[in-house]
Amino acid sequence: MCGIVGYVGERNAAPIIVEGLKCLEYRGYDSFGLAVADGTATDGGGKLTVVKKQGRISDAGSDVSLACGNIGIGHTRWATHGVPSDVNAHPHTDCTGDIAVVHNGIIENYAELKKTLIAEGHVFKSETDTEVIAHLLEKFRNAAAEKGLSGIEKVDFAVKNLMDTLEGSFALLILIRGFNGLIAIKRFSPLVLGIGDDELFASSDMTPILEHTQKILFLEDNDYAYLMPDGIRLFGYPSAKTVERDVKTVDWDVESAKKGGYEYFMEKEIFEQPAVFVNSFRQKIDDGAVSVLKKASSITVVACGSSYHAGLIFRYLMEKYCKIPVRVEIASEFLNFTTAKGTVVIAVTQSGETADTLAALRHAKANGCPVFAVTNVLGSSVTRIADYVLYTRAGPEISVAATKSFIAQCAVLLRIVSIIGKGIFEKELFEIYPVLEETLLFDPADASAVCKDAENIFYVGRGVYYPISLEGALKMKEITYIHAEGCAAGELKHGPFSLLTPKTPVVAVCTKDDAYPVMISNIKEMKARGAPVIAIGSGGDADLKEIADIFIPLPRSKNICEVISATIILQMIAYNTAVLLGRDVDKPRNLAKSVTVI
Ligand code: AGP
Ligand code: GLU
Repeated sequence: MCGIVGYVGERNAAPIIVEGLKCLEYRGYDSFGLAVADGTATDGGGKLTVVKKQGRISDAGSDVSLACGNIGIGHTRWATHGVPSDVNAHPHTDCTGDIAVVHNGIIENYAELKKTLIAEGHVFKSETDTEVIAHLLEKFRNAAAEKGLSGIEKVDFAVKNLMDTLEGSFALLILIRGFNGLIAIKRFSPLVLGIGDDELFASSDMTPILEHTQKILFLEDNDYAYLMPDGIRLFGYPSAKTVERDVKTVDWDVESAKKGGYEYFMEKEIFEQPAVFVNSFRQKIDDGAVSVLKKASSITVVACGSSYHAGLIFRYLMEKYCKIPVRVEIASEFLNFTTAKGTVVIAVTQSGETADTLAALRHAKANGCPVFAVTNVLGSSVTRIADYVLYTRAGPEISVAATKSFIAQCAVLLRIVSIIGKGIFEKELFEIYPVLEETLLFDPADASAVCKDAENIFYVGRGVYYPISLEGALKMKEITYIHAEGCAAGELKHGPFSLLTPKTPVVAVCTKDDAYPVMISNIKEMKARGAPVIAIGSGGDADLKEIADIFIPLPRSKNICEVISATIILQMIAYNTAVLLGRDVDKPRNLAKSVTVI
């Protein structure tokens, strides 16, 4: 999830782009870079100057003053393909240096494209997926020239062919030497345009633009635009016909714009989850990694906090559907144990920097186990220890409480279950997007009204809903400071029952799966002790609705999709309760996003 910015106008582009990138650093800051066309925008644009470097734009110093010109593009990176480095920083250029591209997203078919382009004689400089775009444009422009096309027709031909060829998600800004403007293309990654007096802007979100103009044009997927000194030309793909999009006047301040209008990053991150799940689940897993996993006699997961809960969910599904024994250990306790040879050990860690998880993985490696990492951060410490790395595609998570990174971990771990389980869940999970969108329509007001006055809350579930209850309780306690405890529903009567009173709400997750009848009995037992029950269940479950004090129906979908929906509902209840209590939601007291000490 990088940030991109573009400018076309009469002013010097570089300082405007630099300030714009600073606004977008929340989207990633592995490296920065910009390209500008020299000359004035009215003389056709000359040679491109590219400045790029590992690190933050805020540390860029005077490097960027080398770039002079009034058409420009810039990038602040959150690496997905190729470690953070100077050479992998955007913009990426073609063999001639006449085309420069910045990209937010992932080109899913880049490996095949790169192979073909290399065979055709193109020379690659970086390890990124993005660089194929610059070389493809070079190739298609050459093909257009051979057909006798020139000027705008040549650009049209190249853009159309590019959009035909690329698979995946991309917001692109492109500079081509001699093209008096910049090209903006959007498919599944965000891109907005700003319309000022005699100047135009493009950006991943409106934060960099608002300082210059409030007139914002929101591009739609498969739109492409030419931003020229005399205005915007906007087209739809594949028709190549002109399209009209409303220009809105936006009066947000920069802080609300960064949060996309949401009150906190946590809320924004919760709402990003449908796309995050799908992107994380869809990715291909390397054949070598798949073959090691398929041969595993057993699997051990090591992790902390929410990542540990994702490991527990994996355990339930893997054991049930693939019959492979899975052990899940809290990383800080793992050094006390041994691991049999032949066991594959998987570290699950959003940051890739959690000290306990790194120590556990080193311990497993020293015992001779093949070690995997499931992480969100390319080039993080865990990726240097692991033999195989599977990436979650959550983008940077700003809020301390894990939400979208947890959902992304579930997606990647479910992908493993699906691969080992010969395609199980694949269809359901490829099609989960609308189910998760519908889940986000849930209004947590009633549930939060009950929770906010409680001193203790229990979360209960059976089977896979036990770890989901643990995760629901962790979310609630870390951001509201209310004591919340996740419990296997069957365990409650072995002790915690003594705590149940009319002032102790119980959040029960009870969908129509194998455990349903016994969960219903458990809920009745809790009700008999006077505890108010908030039940999350399958859509249309009249019996559960009858028993519970508050019934939250999940969208009607397959069992496996309900697992993800239920998790999102629990996040929304915790978030809303924290807001009602006036907590500092994104930065709860005493906590850090990544715990790098043991
Ligand atoms: C949960 O919301 C987190 N704040 C915390 O428990 C986190 O999951 C844990 O610290 C592990 O972090 P990691 O995934 O970066 O290793
Ligand atoms: N895939 C590109 C890279 O790794 C862009 C990353 C992104 O937008 O997240 O550089």
